[in-house]
Amino acid sequence: MISPSHIAIIMDGNGRWGLKKYNNRNKGHYYGLLNINKVIEHCIKIKIKYLTLYTFSTENWNRPKKEIDYLFFLFKYFYKKNFNKLNKNNIKIKFIGDLKNIPKDLKIIIKKIEDKTKNNDAITVIFAFNYGAKSELVNAFKNIIKNKTKVNEINEELINNYLYTNNIPDPDILIRTGGEKRLSNFLLWQLSYAELFFINKNWPDFNFFDLKKVIKAFGVTKRKFGGLNE
Ligand code: FPP
Repeated sequence: MISPSHIAIIMDGNGRWGLKKYNNRNKGHYYGLLNINKVIEHCIKIKIKYLTLYTFSTENWNRPKKEIDYLFFLFKYFYKKNFNKLNKNNIKIKFIGDLKNIPKDLKIIIKKIEDKTKNNDAITVIFAFNYGAKSELVNAFKNIIKNKTKVNEINEELINNYLYTNNIPDPDILIRTGGEKRLSNFLLWQLSYAELFFINKNWPDFNFFDLKKVIKAFGVTKRKFGGLNE
């Protein structure tokens, strides 16, 4: 059985869950946030080294202001409520995304969280925040050109180094909850060889058993990376 080191998750279905249970989409985001804490604990238990969570995409700006404001509120709530515990549990937190264009108070919090947890090593939890894979690639290519890179210096490793995820190994597994089967502009370069798992449950209902099922299915997968099985 092979074990994954990096799991990426598209936590979809919060809105539908909230509407169905409380007639309120934001309630779904709140319970989705509570589930993030649980899933981080599960991942530590099974020795996952990296967990990347899609918390806010560059396309999420198209939602009603009330919902965007609530997501930003939740972000601050998450920091206030959980930071000490996360830090005490030796969790390193990183953010990827276009962090230039987010409200200033969030930027300050992000910097604080990253600085204070940078030496922790139980797991690295990466929050994709104002993240879009296409915008990440555009940003990388602009910087490659700005640095006057020569054509023959451009290779996969160099492009990796210009992504928000440099120094982070590519995900072994992508999980998307909520029943839809699409990537929604998430880690398009980094997911090239990930095993994809689409789960027919909304994110607030995703639990340890679901995670273990995914890990078990991954464990018996033959990963060939374009080659042949021996
Ligand atoms: C997708 O569900 C989920 C999101 C757009 C946001 C994910 C956010 C959280 C889990 C909680 C907030 C966490 C932080 C740290 C800010 P959806 O709203 O697209 O669900 P739907 O498909 O049912 O509409």
